[in-house]
Amino acid sequence: MSRDGGPSAPTVRELLFGVPMLAGELPGFDPDAAPAAPFPLFLAWLTQALDAGVREPHAMTLATVDADGCPDLRVVALRDATEAGWTFATQADSPKARQLAGQPQAAVLFHWREQARQIRVRGPVVRADAETTARDFLDRLPGSRAASLVGHQSEVLTDPSALPRAFEAALARVEAEPRTVDPLHALFTLTPRSVEFWQGVPGRGHIRLRYRAHRPDGPWLRERLWP
Ligand SMILES: Cc1cc2nc3c(=O)[nH]c(=O)nc-3n(C[C@H](O)[C@H](O)[C@H](O)COP(=O)(O)O)c2cc1C
Repeated sequence: MSRDGGPSAPTVRELLFGVPMLAGELPGFDPDAAPAAPFPLFLAWLTQALDAGVREPHAMTLATVDADGCPDLRVVALRDATEAGWTFATQADSPKARQLAGQPQAAVLFHWREQARQIRVRGPVVRADAETTARDFLDRLPGSRAASLVGHQSEVLTDPSALPRAFEAALARVEAEPRTVDPLHALFTLTPRSVEFWQGVPGRGHIRLRYRAHRPDGPWLRERLWP
């Protein structure tokens, strides 16, 4: 009962009691048939996620470390991935970019809940050259280019009415000067040193396979992990 005598709000624990996790029909994973390197397996899982209608499979959580050694994380979009690494874009003056300049190591995480799958990638991060970065920027839809040109990412927004005005101005600029490249657009690639594939198996042991290498081009060590 609450202080005023009415029914009390449920606690978080009560709200979560019985909420299913790792539910539904899940894909299989045979780690013994996994390829020798992680990228082909990532590609296979991404293709399966797209085919299965997983929402936003390209949304990945990016973890960085600040100057005090405190971890920070946020979702970013995967722009591309190859054997060389996982690529994402952001603003060069954003907290995450500054954290990467100070400590060029990161981790990214994909969680595809419809398939009870997660993929963890860890390793050093390198920033792309100006030409590659400009190409990535110009590849974007006008709205996304305008959002980037607005800038000030993660700065305090003291006057919220300034945001739509800034966006309209940026969009007008993109339309008037379609070759404009945001000088603060930054592209980073996380070079894999460790990639773990996790497949949930309710009621039995979850399947984990980790690839480890001292170099991104291998040779890769494949290890099964206890769940
Ligand atoms: C689905 C989704 C995709 C996002 N994609 C990006 C992205 O590609 N680049 C980016 O800078 N921020 C992206 N964001 C916003 C970031 O999560 C974050 O709010 C912003 O980059 C500021 O982060 P920072 O203060 O750590 O630098 C995305 C957010 C979501 C929820």
